[in-house]
Amino acid sequence: MQLTTTRNKELKAKPDPQKLGFGTLFTDHMFNMDYHPDKGWHNPRIEPYTPFTMDPSTMVLHYGQGVFEGLKAYRTGDGHIQLFRPQANFKRMNYSCHKLCIPAFDEAMALDALKQLVHLEKEWVPNAPGTSLYIRPTIVATDPFLGVRASHTYRFFIILSPVGAYYPEGFNPIKILVTREFVRAVRGGLGDTKTLGNYAASLLAGEMAHKEGYTQVLWLDGVEQKYVEEVGSMNILFVIDGELVTPMLNGSILPGITRDSALALARRWEMPVSERKISIDEVYEAHRAGRLTEIFGSGTAAVISPVGTLKYEDQVITIGDGHAGPVAQKLFDAIMDIQYGKAEDPLGWVEPV
Ligand code: COI
Repeated sequence: MQLTTTRNKELKAKPDPQKLGFGTLFTDHMFNMDYHPDKGWHNPRIEPYTPFTMDPSTMVLHYGQGVFEGLKAYRTGDGHIQLFRPQANFKRMNYSCHKLCIPAFDEAMALDALKQLVHLEKEWVPNAPGTSLYIRPTIVATDPFLGVRASHTYRFFIILSPVGAYYPEGFNPIKILVTREFVRAVRGGLGDTKTLGNYAASLLAGEMAHKEGYTQVLWLDGVEQKYVEEVGSMNILFVIDGELVTPMLNGSILPGITRDSALALARRWEMPVSERKISIDEVYEAHRAGRLTEIFGSGTAAVISPVGTLKYEDQVITIGDGHAGPVAQKLFDAIMDIQYGKAEDPLGWVEPV
């Protein structure tokens, strides 16, 4: 399949890299590709960033048949641009497609198209510390039809956004409310995919947390509401008795790429690591016994996000001293150093553009 490129004649002004937030600005070009049952995935193209025109009956607008990914391009100290584990994102995206009845795409072709897009937009990759170019590949169902079935046609697009920190708190510890009223996902559902509805389903709980002065919620399992699953839109990790503990992937937890990277690095450092069920009662007991030293979230957007306060029913606990703990700090530094090319890449995660 031949990728075509149509250049935008009107380029936007680049933002001040010191003043970047998250996900508000978009570059001059995007990638688009279409699916039709007779043609398969076809017409891959890079073209000017522009709004879509959609029939009001377009299926994704009604039934949420869509999947997405999030990854980043980083500028290294010597000005090169690199991606972090993009193959893992496209692999997970195809898994999400499978669960949403969306036809699989060619991962190598998608990576090649992404690299060409990022190369074209290289001036948009910011150079201030902690900034990057956030990449959002998305696939949506495009049949104009109101019956409930899988769409026959799809659009695959990739847009790019220069970003700074995801949370206004930056790397400072966030306050988290444990919710029992809402659950994010159940086993056998879509919790292990990056699909639109999972994020819609998280909004009300997030808003209620905000009203109580908390940044996000901690999600418990959807059956017993006993075991920890995720925090906000991130995976969650604990340090208990010097061991890095995270909920095992059980079908309702998103298999995070930053989660996997953190576990792989900790294992390389010969730190004890355990992927297992962890109940909220165990978290509180470990805190009472002085064995819980850190809690943090992991995700592409925030990388590592320390949790400083946790509220579960009427029990509020403080973890750490108002700063990131040593394990969160070490993982944050190690992951960022690889992403920004400041350190060796012992596990072959970096993909040059
Ligand atoms: C991430 O942590 O990368 C996320 O999943 C957040 C994203 C949906 C903005």
